[in-house]
Amino acid sequence: MNTAQFIPDRPLETIEKASFTWQTPSNIALVKYWGKSDPQIPKNASISFTLKNCHTITTIDFSKKETTAEAVFELFFEGKEKEEFKPKIASFFKRVQAYCPYILGYKMTINSENSFPHSSGIASSASGLSAIAMCLMSLEKALNPNLSKDALNKKASFLARLGSGSASRSIEGPLVVWGNHPEIAGSSDVFGVQFPYKVHANFENYQDAILLVDKGEKQVSSTVGHNLMHEHPYAENRFTQANENLGKISKILQEGNMKDFINLVESEALTLHAMMLTSNPYFILMKPNTLEIIHKIWEYRLAKNSNICFTLDAGANVHVLYPENEKEAINQFIESELANYCQKKQYIYDSVGLGAKKL
Ligand code: PMV
Repeated sequence: MNTAQFIPDRPLETIEKASFTWQTPSNIALVKYWGKSDPQIPKNASISFTLKNCHTITTIDFSKKETTAEAVFELFFEGKEKEEFKPKIASFFKRVQAYCPYILGYKMTINSENSFPHSSGIASSASGLSAIAMCLMSLEKALNPNLSKDALNKKASFLARLGSGSASRSIEGPLVVWGNHPEIAGSSDVFGVQFPYKVHANFENYQDAILLVDKGEKQVSSTVGHNLMHEHPYAENRFTQANENLGKISKILQEGNMKDFINLVESEALTLHAMMLTSNPYFILMKPNTLEIIHKIWEYRLAKNSNICFTLDAGANVHVLYPENEKEAINQFIESELANYCQKKQYIYDSVGLGAKKL
């Protein structure tokens, strides 16, 4: 793992003031990452669809100051100063300062907002951390104009990963692999890469409706959940299975076999939650309505010979995945039936997107 490549190796320009704004998406994993070692090295490779509508928009204003030992920043979320988000961002800056030493010479004012409710169970850390990483990389590009787009994206993913593992998959799209895997050319444990093979037309513009079953704060954070994989009796088998599933889904995505896709994606979601159920201490993030929705999806699939399926991340919400050619019928099913199982009947229509955008 050559991480020295991410340390700037040339003298940088001097810039007094700069401001950059990025919109970066959330993502939904098809093969899940659950379990890691230090520093944010995944125990298995994972792959996700990048989303389009669920995103964070972040502006960072940089103004030159004397260099200090620690990053100096202010943080505003949806216009209000957010003390409670600061420790996570401070430890992110600490982790990245070896790779971005220039941040110690600036005062940073961060303004951030999400297109979706915070703590709705939608991975706000993925879009949030990737947005900050892109703003840092815009500053680095201004300080070092020779930086290529590929090098910039790679380092942005590398930095984002140090904030939140899944954030490494929120820089590019439509499909990103994170974690070294023998069947994915160029894959790495320290940054995400775009799925490098041609994807079958069946998966073009794939739809993801996020059903908000429970918008409350999670009882067990993903940090705690990842840590419980260290002493987990089934961990090694799970990591092996996930890597095998990544090899399988790579073929499925190229060949377009929908039945195999559905089978693998749903099994991954339930296995993730099975790991939670069998952790010590055990915990359950699904709610009764999560299960109601899963059963409804299965009934609908059988009755209509549909390619609808579901996945879950670390929460109670259900991501309903379906091909674009079933959009009209399935959206109607969601509105008339599945919405009844959502908190305040809330759901978000999303689809696969292309990654970070500079605004
Ligand atoms: O990036 P983290 O540490 O919040 O972990 C995310 C883990 C899952 O969302 C459950 C799975 C994944 O691969 O995104």
